[in-house]
Amino acid sequence: MAVMAGPTYDRMAPFYERLTNAYSLGCIPRARQEQLTRILPGMRVLYVGIGPGSDALAAAERGASVAGVDLSTKMVEIASRRFAAAGQVADLQAVDLFAYEPDDPYDAVVANFLLDCFDDGARPRVIERMWGFLRQGGTMLITDTGKPHGSFPARACWRIYHGVAFTTTWIQGITPWLPIMDLANDLVNAGFRVDDHLFHRPTRRGPVLFESVVGVKP
Ligand SMILES: C[S@@+](CC[C@H](N)C(=O)[O-])C[C@H]1O[C@@H](n2cnc3c(N)ncnc32)[C@H](O)[C@@H]1O
Repeated sequence: MAVMAGPTYDRMAPFYERLTNAYSLGCIPRARQEQLTRILPGMRVLYVGIGPGSDALAAAERGASVAGVDLSTKMVEIASRRFAAAGQVADLQAVDLFAYEPDDPYDAVVANFLLDCFDDGARPRVIERMWGFLRQGGTMLITDTGKPHGSFPARACWRIYHGVAFTTTWIQGITPWLPIMDLANDLVNAGFRVDDHLFHRPTRRGPVLFESVVGVKP
């Protein structure tokens, strides 16, 4: 389970996004841009583990009706300030995803870099919970670190690169030890149909470092 995720992410909140964007060598901003093409005006979209919320704000600016939850009150404060500064409205709540009870199901649920906060035992319960937030036919959008792909050097790059980051977050108690996640398989096991699976590399021929998966709730 995520241990102390709220307080630790509170401390990271002010610099979290700048740090991860830079560390991802451009992969995360590009993944967010691609993901945004799935968000259409008028859609009701829930961001789970919203963090500072730049992706959620971009969705609102595209005309989506945005809600967001996060265990970290500081993350929600930062996201709320950003929405206010941009003149956008959203329903943002500092609440554990396991305690959140939406009034109505959503058209899309987005979980970016949330699943890596949970170990193999807890992840299926998180996905099951997000399944419950979606209407039938709704879309589950996930971007995360995924698993190593490709040749031996490419897989070694994944392990070294994410090993550095996850050692830091593991010491802080907010992620398990180097989670290796088969995101598409996790969605299929939860009952989703996988509609798209994208791989993000720092350069055209570089190793896959991040993945995005799109699931549809049949
Ligand atoms: C790695 S950050 C990702 C933030 C954001 N989605 C992004 O893409 O930058 C993970 C976020 O999930 C939140 N989180 C962890 N466990 C949670 C839970 N049980 N309920 C709600 N939010 C949670 C953390 O507080 C943190 O803000």
